[in-house]
Amino acid sequence: MARAWVRAQAGRTGVLLIVGDPGIGKSWLAEEVARLAGARGGLVLRARCHEIERPLFLQPFVDALRVAGLAGYALRDLAGEWAGALERLSRGESLERRHAYEAVTAFLRALAERETVLLVLEDLHAAGAPTVELVHYLARRVRGARLLVLATARPAPPGPPAAAAASGGPAEVERVLGEAAEVIRLGPLPPEAVRELAVAAGLGPELGEAVFLRTRGHPRCAVELLRGMAAGEPGVPEPVRAWVLGRVRGLGEQAERLLRAACLLGPAFDPVALGRLAGVPARVAARHCERALAAGLLTVSGGSYEFASDLTREALDATTPEPTRLVYAGVLRSGTPTIH
Ligand SMILES: Nc1ncnc2c1ncn2[C@@H]1O[C@H](COP(=O)(O)OP(=O)(O)OP(=O)(O)O)[C@@H](O)[C@H]1O
Ligand SMILES: [Mg+2]
Repeated sequence: MARAWVRAQAGRTGVLLIVGDPGIGKSWLAEEVARLAGARGGLVLRARCHEIERPLFLQPFVDALRVAGLAGYALRDLAGEWAGALERLSRGESLERRHAYEAVTAFLRALAERETVLLVLEDLHAAGAPTVELVHYLARRVRGARLLVLATARPAPPGPPAAAAASGGPAEVERVLGEAAEVIRLGPLPPEAVRELAVAAGLGPELGEAVFLRTRGHPRCAVELLRGMAAGEPGVPEPVRAWVLGRVRGLGEQAERLLRAACLLGPAFDPVALGRLAGVPARVAARHCERALAAGLLTVSGGSYEFASDLTREALDATTPEPTRLVYAGVLRSGTPTIH
């Protein structure tokens, strides 16, 4: 990352795409780069993409232009012949795509002549197609400008590319930018990093080891669990609970019911056993497991699904009403499926 910034300072334009599951540290890394760029005298333009604003034409770029304006750069001074187009864009007027792309590109080029620019576009998976295409346009057409574009996005859901692309969002980002941008895929933290976080939180490295095992190195879960432990609360931290529940609820009622039932099957389970327990056909259970996999709640281990971490399972189990747990526990003992 630091190298990409040094390259940009030397006039080698870069477009980086940081891809990873929710909570894996994309924003954290983007923030580190922004801090570095700021400390080395760069101009940092930041914008976030929001699902709700997906239909707004190039809204993240409009926001970034506004940040440049706040930093004292006037569109009219920098964009030359494109100033009018940019002003219309900032007012939310629609422009011919190519026209808009060239106007934004011209502005960023001009800005990069004054100082090295870091443009951070967060959550590109939530952006509309024109925004993603403009990032591609920058990656393909801008050379020799002191510009580093750093976008973050959640990964494409698993499955055949055609089916994934049809779902838009994350799949679309990777399909469009996969070749044009330098893609950095983030995974979980290694054990030594979690040990270091434990020590930084005032806890012993052996607790770091335990947290690593319970969270499998997922940064958001590890950080929250360590925070809770440091405060003398070793259970599932409230933010982790809320986060897991939010993701499970996003999958719909039936998926939630199935995942709660899956908690009783242990860390690993297969859709046949889950279907039997919950009284639904195995293929229905499999379909919901696939969606939970795409949401980062499950992983695949051989022929079974597994909860992404013990903490994920604990969070779900801890919020399942006891009478419901007893129903599934009874079914497990008797072998008679529940009827929905
Ligand atoms: N390398 C790291 N070291 C220490 N803490 C980290 C690291 N990576 C992430 N974190 C912490 O983990 C939490 C989640 O990280 P972050 O917000 O960057 O995730 P994200 O990938 O952007 O998630 P989302 O897709 O939901 O936006 C934050 O509290 C962050 O401070
Ligand atoms: Mg983020």
